[in-house]
Amino acid sequence: MLEVENLHVALPDRGNKRVFGRPPLIEILKGIDLRVSAGETVGLVGESGSGKSTLARALLRLYPLSAGSIRFEGRDITNLDEHELRPLRARMQIVFQDSQSALNPRLTIGTALAEPFVSYGRASDSREALKLAAGLLEHVGLSASMAARYPHQLSGGQRQRVGIARAIALNPALVVADEIVSGLDVSVQAQVLDLLRRLRAETGMALVLISHDLSVVRALCERVVIMQHGVIVEAGPSETVFNSPQHPYTRKLLRAIPLPEVDPAWIDSVDIDEVAT
Ligand SMILES: Nc1ncnc2c1ncn2[C@@H]1O[C@H](COP(=O)(O)OP(=O)(O)OP(=O)(O)O)[C@@H](O)[C@H]1O
Ligand SMILES: [Mg+2]
Repeated sequence: MLEVENLHVALPDRGNKRVFGRPPLIEILKGIDLRVSAGETVGLVGESGSGKSTLARALLRLYPLSAGSIRFEGRDITNLDEHELRPLRARMQIVFQDSQSALNPRLTIGTALAEPFVSYGRASDSREALKLAAGLLEHVGLSASMAARYPHQLSGGQRQRVGIARAIALNPALVVADEIVSGLDVSVQAQVLDLLRRLRAETGMALVLISHDLSVVRALCERVVIMQHGVIVEAGPSETVFNSPQHPYTRKLLRAIPLPEVDPAWIDSVDIDEVAT
């Protein structure tokens, strides 16, 4: 479904602003190879600054590539322009950690969720789009009455549900979730992750889950990819990587973040309707 080969991304060096001319580029991703199968959940792990978020955006062609190729659903999207990418954008979505800033503060939740239905021609008029938006809210465990609220009137967990709702609105084949539960209470984290797991099972979408929390990755992901300094140092089935890490960096990472004894029923124990109101 997604095939990335030798991906290189260089961005202007933020720490080197110049009065004249452009800042020099620094290479952030240095030859990434990655495959994601349809319906698969892949965890992306690595220390801060290793390039996870850059990779997340590059996968969806939100950053220019300096080398390499990306195939998505059988199509080479490496060099497509924004106009050509547009129909594919519905199929590849990203959810960010900071849902507060991802949502327009002046739009109600309902209007924000209705927008993709209108702009992608999935609803004949705004009334129908609002109706679809209300259905979407219920689908992610929120009450349809949330549609009338503004982003700041929601809790962090509710906003992440809205972010997820927006991401799944157009039936994506791939959702990238970048640290979407960081900063939430542990019980709310479990609810949001349980929602993701349920949606994945229902829709068959593939999920790339970026998280610094290894117990989350272990609980949710079939496969895990470890990044360091812009390259992948280790990848494999979660059980294999967690039980017998091969690369010294993976071992260090596993030591640095002591894994709590994860009760596999941890996420299941959450009542998803708890936050509906
Ligand atoms: N727009 C940008 N311009 C220049 N450098 C950037 C830009 N975005 C990220 N970087 C740099 O690229 C490197 C990778 O950043 P990235 O945000 O991808 O890391 P990350 O693995 O997501 O880290 P974190 O776990 O803290 O979210 C960092 O050194 C960062 O400073
Ligand atoms: Mg990041």
